[in-house]
Amino acid sequence: MTTVLVIGASRGIGREFVRQYAADGATVIGTARSEPGLAAVRAAGGEALPLDVLDDAAVAALATQLGGRAIDIAVVNAGVYGPRVSALTPPGNDEFDLVMRTNVRAPMQLISALAPVVAATRGKLAVVSSKMGSMSLMSSSAGWLYRASKAAVNAAVKSASLELGPRGVVCVAFHPGWVKTDMGGAGADIDVATSVAGMRHVLAAANESHNGKFLNYGGEQLSW
Ligand SMILES: NC(=O)c1ccc[n+]([C@@H]2O[C@H](COP(=O)([O-])OP(=O)(O)OC[C@H]3O[C@@H](n4cnc5c(N)ncnc54)[C@H](OP(=O)(O)O)[C@@H]3O)[C@@H](O)[C@H]2O)c1
Repeated sequence: MTTVLVIGASRGIGREFVRQYAADGATVIGTARSEPGLAAVRAAGGEALPLDVLDDAAVAALATQLGGRAIDIAVVNAGVYGPRVSALTPPGNDEFDLVMRTNVRAPMQLISALAPVVAATRGKLAVVSSKMGSMSLMSSSAGWLYRASKAAVNAAVKSASLELGPRGVVCVAFHPGWVKTDMGGAGADIDVATSVAGMRHVLAAANESHNGKFLNYGGEQLSW
């Protein structure tokens, strides 16, 4: 029986990960920070675990909260976009702190907290990043704080992969596509079902050669 953990599963891409893995018969634990979010996890077929990724103590206690269960697949998905402004409009302190703490520091803490429980199964750990964080693929400055945060978390994933690979873990960053969610908007390219089915397929096939890679939801390797 596969056990999957999805961090940030109240809606959008995270909730769809819960729905699809549960429909496939996996044991799925989905985290959310609100009662409606926890109810949405249960409705999608998952076990609901309360977690605000900005709560240091709660993140540090996550492994304990899991009750000693080993995790085969962990998906760190929670994220925020922040101010929808382009370069040359500087972020305020509060905006900067919210985006960077949610999109960078929280994944760094979560990777650290989850390393033992994923290494116990020689499992897979994916962080849902974004192509908007790719330096080499960047052709617009829209959402530059978000871009900076995803570039930073990509560096964190690459760093983590160098520690986790020798412990048998495959650690990757994903671009989920431009997805129709609250964040992606109704005009996005693909629906959540397509995005998540793609990432699940990529994760199922991933092996040590994929460790430390930045992957599109269709499996193509992206440049950082
Ligand atoms: N949609 C796209 O086109 C797209 C493209 C590239 C990358 N991504 C990335 O994909 C991931 C999911 O995005 P989405 O499109 O599904 O966005 P979304 O619909 O806005 O959902 C964001 C999720 O993150 C959770 N979250 C945010 N801050 C949190 C916190 N402090 N603690 C716990 N949960 C928190 C939200 O929970 P609440 O319901 O409690 O707010 C929600 O479940 C993000 O990392 C995003 O950057 C999305």
